[in-house]
Amino acid sequence: MKSLLEQVEEVRRSFEESAANSTEQLQELRVRYLGKKGALTTLLKTLGTLPPSERPTAGERLNEFRDELERRLEQKRLELRNAENARQEAAERIDVSLPPRGRRAGAFHPVTQTLHEIVGILKGMGYSVALGPEKEEEFYNFEALNMPSWHPARDMQDTFYFPDGSLLRTHTSPVQVRSMLEHGAPLRIVCPGKVYRRDSDPTHSPMFNQIEGLLVDKDVSFSVLKGSMEELMRAFFGRRLKSRFRASYFPFTEPSMELDVECVECGGKNPSCRVCKGTGWLEVCGMGMVHPFVIRSGGIDPDRYNGFAFGMGLDRMAMLKYGINDLRLLFDGNVSYFLAGRDA
Ligand code: PHE
Repeated sequence: MKSLLEQVEEVRRSFEESAANSTEQLQELRVRYLGKKGALTTLLKTLGTLPPSERPTAGERLNEFRDELERRLEQKRLELRNAENARQEAAERIDVSLPPRGRRAGAFHPVTQTLHEIVGILKGMGYSVALGPEKEEEFYNFEALNMPSWHPARDMQDTFYFPDGSLLRTHTSPVQVRSMLEHGAPLRIVCPGKVYRRDSDPTHSPMFNQIEGLLVDKDVSFSVLKGSMEELMRAFFGRRLKSRFRASYFPFTEPSMELDVECVECGGKNPSCRVCKGTGWLEVCGMGMVHPFVIRSGGIDPDRYNGFAFGMGLDRMAMLKYGINDLRLLFDGNVSYFLAGRDA
């Protein structure tokens, strides 16, 4: 018959060989060794068969062995828990040291920026924004602006017509008449918008943007127009540029002028400047005192009210301000133009 010590040794060995890879297996192990019918209990039951003198020592040994089993089970439990924690951590790990993907903020198109800037400046001078339709009637685009059908100036603006006789507006000036008819005098409006002409080459697009201004009031003088334009240019370009007013012709203004400003690129110092073509001047704006015929088209009495109007190319203003040298850059998605421009 094996001694108690030998039996303890046997149980210990079998315990050491048994693995517990889950909480369930660990529980089974506990039952198998420490449960009511477990190995230790079985050993404890043999105590009674020992001679009474040996029982206390043997009992003590078994108690120690129980404590040892408890310790080992607890150790296994901790190992299991740590392994489980490590697994979970690995699965849920977030690498906070990874650089973020980055969110690049969008930006307004240069033409839109230019629009906001010019409208902002004019709002500061008391103008409100007015808009009109891009599909326009001949009446507003031409007739009401002192351009009857026989007028040679109509040829200056090659027009897209619809079969029903309406057209794509060739300028923002029809909004002058629409605003006067809607609001009467006094009036200060600024109208940005798309306009269309049958024109397409590297410096002309069939669609482009204009911005129109109209002021109608009593006793408006020519000098107010000049001063307003100079201030608009100074505010827009951020510095005072040399400017000159040149006599010009528009059927809807009399007298009419064009405003030139000193070349923003070369300041008039580069005879081979691509922006001003060596002239030193840039045409930026058409303008004039509103023709009495147009005031009357707008339902206002030209004997009581007069005013001035101006119109400029928004795309051109954007190009001048932001140093964009190719009109196509504003409309095309093809970056190679841009890169080609950079290399040149
Ligand atoms: N409508 C003119 C054009 O398209 C510009 C202009 C507007 C001129 C207002 C004078 C007054 O060329």
